[in-house]
Amino acid sequence: MKRILFAASEGNPFIKTGGLADVVGALPKYLDKEKFDVRVVLPKYLCIPENCRQKLSYVTEFYADMPRGQEYIGIYETQVEGVWYYFIDNEHYFAGNSPYNQIFEDVNKFAFYCRAVLACLPELGFCPDIIHCHDWQAALIPVFLNVFYRENSFYKNMKTILTIHNQKFQGRWKIDDIENCRDLPADCRYGAMEAYGETNFLKAGILHANWVNTVSEAYAREIQCQEGGEGLDGVMREVSGKLSGIVNGIDVKEYDPMSDPQIRVHFNGKSITKKKKNKERLQDLLGLQKDSSAMVIGMVSRLTQQKGFDLVRAVMEEMMDTMNVQFAVLGTGEEQFQDFFRHFDWKYPDRVSATIGYSEELAHMIYGGADAFLMPSQFEPCGLSQLISMRYGTIPIVRETGGLKDTVEAYNEIWQTGTGFSFTNYNAHEMLAVVRYAYDVFCNHPKEWRAMMKRCMAMDNSWQASAGKYEALYLSL
Ligand code: ADP
Ligand code: GLC
Repeated sequence: MKRILFAASEGNPFIKTGGLADVVGALPKYLDKEKFDVRVVLPKYLCIPENCRQKLSYVTEFYADMPRGQEYIGIYETQVEGVWYYFIDNEHYFAGNSPYNQIFEDVNKFAFYCRAVLACLPELGFCPDIIHCHDWQAALIPVFLNVFYRENSFYKNMKTILTIHNQKFQGRWKIDDIENCRDLPADCRYGAMEAYGETNFLKAGILHANWVNTVSEAYAREIQCQEGGEGLDGVMREVSGKLSGIVNGIDVKEYDPMSDPQIRVHFNGKSITKKKKNKERLQDLLGLQKDSSAMVIGMVSRLTQQKGFDLVRAVMEEMMDTMNVQFAVLGTGEEQFQDFFRHFDWKYPDRVSATIGYSEELAHMIYGGADAFLMPSQFEPCGLSQLISMRYGTIPIVRETGGLKDTVEAYNEIWQTGTGFSFTNYNAHEMLAVVRYAYDVFCNHPKEWRAMMKRCMAMDNSWQASAGKYEALYLSL
């Protein structure tokens, strides 16, 4: 039995801002329980919803030596579908109403988290064979392990994997201003941990981890190139011998059109025509015109530059003018994009609905009721939304980048193959052309559209295949 510990800053159902939480919440459940004892360790944020907090039980507490002195570490635990979750408590660091950008700088917060994860293992009596770290927030675990713990017999044989879910976020800060890293030797702080004159947690983790992977094969290639490397492409090329891409899956139990409690009428590939009831309900709920001939385009997303909203903004008016489309938008993020969608919601009240906020419930209704899902990302390490959409027979319209390229096969009208529509260049009119193409198929070739919906629903985007790849990776280490 191999022991694996997942370390991350988010995980369903406790705390989520994006796809990372979906992955951390789902992958452990899909690993073979006969062969792997998988546990997860998260920060115990004050913003974890009350219904989840109530389920946590106290395990122990202790004080650990840290650069700021002796620091309190509390440990809580709970079990979800057979997986143990541990929570690191220290309200000094984990206060605030969101996991990131609160009173305490994130770099110090997550440096503390990484130290606390390592310090709490003997207290828990859990000695992992592999610590599987996710993103920059957990990237210092391999560093602290190598620098402070290697001589200690408890830690001696532990191996580390770092999964990069988004290379854009690196944990950068002024080198001498991170108190919780101050005791690392200068050759580390100014060596592995330094990039462009700043501290860079991700870079340090990449260099110190035994293996590095990212969440699609295409993105694993892109981050080794200047355009996709976010300044770390040289480092990625240097470590290419220990770098791989494993595409994410989705939790097919959570996103199941046959049982999803958030959708009105359940359906599968055989009863696909029932999906229109969910479209009607969505239009009703969002105040959109109840027009079955309108193509409802869904978007559920963080409203950031990454997701390609400036392309949508550039041609939104043109789309509204020239096609009978409706938009069902749900998201939060940058003011500029929130304002843009609010404006169109105001201008076209019965054709555009923009919900600025976070809602699992509405997200499911949009996936379940929309005709198409637009995701013109500038870059996309994997992307889960297109996978979720396909599961509900909602046709994705995507830009061919990262995981979108690996998971959506472009429609071919001659061979009648494909699971969506895609365009290559980051260009608004290229996107517009492909939305028009989708609209033409939607309006004029309904049989072909339905066949594509069925192909989408028949795809296996579950964790099954990818969990097998992670298992092989764990064993190879
Ligand atoms: P990313 O992790 O880059 O945000 P992904 O496509 O991998 O993108 O995952 C996004 C996840 O977050 C999906 O499960 C999506 O449904 C969910 N999500 C994003 N924004 C919202 C929102 N405002 N309300 C509910 N769910 C959201
Ligand atoms: C990141 C990426 C997204 C990916 C998710 C889960 O947030 O932006 O593409 O699907 O992590 O790996």
